[in-house]
Amino acid sequence: MAESNEGWVCIGPSADLLPGEKRTEWMGETPVVMFNLDGEIHALEDRCTHEDFELSVGHFDPAEGSIECTLHGAKFDVRDGRALCAPAYTSARRFEARIADGLIWLRDPPAAADAGA
Ligand code: FES
Repeated sequence: MAESNEGWVCIGPSADLLPGEKRTEWMGETPVVMFNLDGEIHALEDRCTHEDFELSVGHFDPAEGSIECTLHGAKFDVRDGRALCAPAYTSARRFEARIADGLIWLRDPPAAADAGA
């Protein structure tokens, strides 16, 4: 895993994550689950906001763009981490993701204050 400027971290070849697939990697101390949704990569912290279970164990529905937590059935939108149903009410932490030169890159989004908001 290589780190570039602006906080982007190279995860590996995009060919290792095909449309409809999910895969888990580490961003430092944080487990991150990545999703390939129709060729676009999305990434969330691998932690359900209900009771901290691993989201990556759950069912990824590419048609709906959601991941369902195995433990109690909460669903999250993989594009923005929004909680879609009970028992989770808080969004999952989202990471920025992009593909460049055939590689997947992730980064923790800059804080709102740093982004000039
Ligand atoms: S831990 Fe995920 S729904 Fe309860």
